[in-house]
Amino acid sequence: MNPAILVPTADTLPVPWGWFQLLLILTLFLHIILMNIMLGTGIIAFVNMFRHNGAATPLSRTISGKLPFALAFTVNFGIAPLLFVQVLYGNFLYASSVLMANFWLSIIGLLIISYYLAYIFNYKYDSLESGRLLLLGFSVTGMLLIGFLMSNNFTLMQRPDAWVRYFEKPTGLLLNLSDPTLFPRYLHFITAAIAIGGLSIALYHEYLYRNGDEAARVNIKHGCTWFAYATMINFGFGFWFFGSLPAHVHNLSTLPGQLIAIFILIAITLGTFSVIFSLRSRVMPTLYTALTTVFTMILVRDLVRVSYLKPYFSLSDLTVVPQYSPFILFLLFFIGGLALVGWMLKAAWRAFDNREVQS
Ligand code: HEM
Repeated sequence: MNPAILVPTADTLPVPWGWFQLLLILTLFLHIILMNIMLGTGIIAFVNMFRHNGAATPLSRTISGKLPFALAFTVNFGIAPLLFVQVLYGNFLYASSVLMANFWLSIIGLLIISYYLAYIFNYKYDSLESGRLLLLGFSVTGMLLIGFLMSNNFTLMQRPDAWVRYFEKPTGLLLNLSDPTLFPRYLHFITAAIAIGGLSIALYHEYLYRNGDEAARVNIKHGCTWFAYATMINFGFGFWFFGSLPAHVHNLSTLPGQLIAIFILIAITLGTFSVIFSLRSRVMPTLYTALTTVFTMILVRDLVRVSYLKPYFSLSDLTVVPQYSPFILFLLFFIGGLALVGWMLKAAWRAFDNREVQS
């Protein structure tokens, strides 16, 4: 069967596709950074407690207070890219979501469980004792499962040739496990999350240190060490991932192939600098180089999708039926919403600062 006949007809767009692409990249960047802080610090807190036989540690206590916030922000900043990716690639993403519908819908349940556990972990931190490790372990496992299902769907959507398996197993229980890119891609994301989680710990303690907390110094080094070693390992996963991609995806005779090559070279260079800076515990230069690396990688991820879908579809195929006023209204609300979130974060940070001063 020719898989192209399985691809539904795309909907029309109210404004040219470039607008949605720009918003998708920007909002996905925010989602991925927040997800990295949530998952990375969760994993680091777990390892930290595990090394102390489940006993309370200052670092895991600090993380316990931030984890529910990080989870809430990750989810909220996941909705925007989900809308934009559906606008641009709905005919692919809806199809793959239906093929793995049971797993896809289970994300809601997993989110609720992880969220509750993160809350209990925080509020009952002191009274939990040995249950502390177990609770955080289950919460983080839920997050890891969600990430795995995300990777399944976002790889399955770009492989209509794999959709024909539905006719052998029409149950909504298909994953994309036979795709050779799935595991290196997933491991690449998770290891990056650990690195950025480490960096966020370093950044937070750098702030405390600059405000006179001498004891914070040890965690600057600790966070930077997590970042450096996770990133070094991630070079390995990155090369594995790149090697598992089909040759046509990074074919240098195509424009996406050339852009992929250029962005990967930029990311490797910046990634190397970020490791060097972090090994010297220089938090701010590590932050700038690491964030630019993540952004560049998000561009690569999108170009990889463009290349995968080339035989079936190109964004320029999408028909525009102009309708600018809803889009302008949306942009106004979007910018207003971002300003409001910024204000909320500032207010929360000020309250936190005052509490630190009082205690
Ligand atoms: C614990 C919570 C979550 C984790 C750990 C997580 C993790 C991830 C990961 C690892 C990816 C990259 C997958 C890949 O490309 O292989 C991803 C992408 C994405 N996530 Fe999440 N995610 C979470 C929650 C959410 C939620 C609740 C939403 C939506 C409401 C969401 C929306 C998205 C979207 C739309 C993309 C990809 C967009 C694109 O392909 O351009 N995520 N997430």
